[in-house]
Amino acid sequence: MDGNGRWATAHDVSVAEGHRAGSRALRPVVEAAIDLGIESLAVYAFSTENWSRSAGEVTALMEIFGETIERELPDLVAQGVRARFLGRDDRAPDWLREKMDALEQATLSNSRLALWIAFDYGGRAELVDAARRLVETGTTPEDVNEAALAACLYEPEMPDPDLVIRTSGEQRVSNFLLWQSAYAEYVFTETLWPDFGPEELRAAIEEYARRRRRFGGR
Ligand code: IPE
Ligand code: MG
Repeated sequence: MDGNGRWATAHDVSVAEGHRAGSRALRPVVEAAIDLGIESLAVYAFSTENWSRSAGEVTALMEIFGETIERELPDLVAQGVRARFLGRDDRAPDWLREKMDALEQATLSNSRLALWIAFDYGGRAELVDAARRLVETGTTPEDVNEAALAACLYEPEMPDPDLVIRTSGEQRVSNFLLWQSAYAEYVFTETLWPDFGPEELRAAIEEYARRRRRFGGR
């Protein structure tokens, strides 16, 4: 969900207002995903590298995440969305961690759309943590294989993405779902995340539908 800062600059508002606008863009996209019959949607909310931003911006982001959870929780419950977080869970402030847990608990029995929120997430950190878990559980070298490693990722139940949409004109992966995106299709759009909406989601899926996926085959 990239481009909040540039959106703020373009609208001559604070970067926090840009993030707030970004937080409001999520609901219409979730609703559109449900309408389109998408079963699983992952969003990149905060990376392991985002902690390096100024203390003021990080604090504002944490507050906005908290506000967003409170604002969206009732609707997510009503719409049958099951929300889960993936990423490190030891660095968010306790009060936010509690809200994240509450969102997961409140949506636990929903099954219409799986919403995965990558928070304090980094693809490399995830792979390092998975390797550590393999070692900790005494996995022998012969037993290290793709299935064993995949089972040690943060959310083994999360399906690999078919399509990754990158907003704001950037054309890089930025440490998102490195393992899971091995065969994902990418769609890049110039649109800044706060301006991204249902029409753009539909357009990205139409583009995806025109791709021919070969998974390395012929
Ligand atoms: C993405 O928007 C949101 C987060 C990283 C939390 P940015 O803040 O990266 O926006 P730009 O890249 O500065 O426009
Ligand atoms: Mg950015």
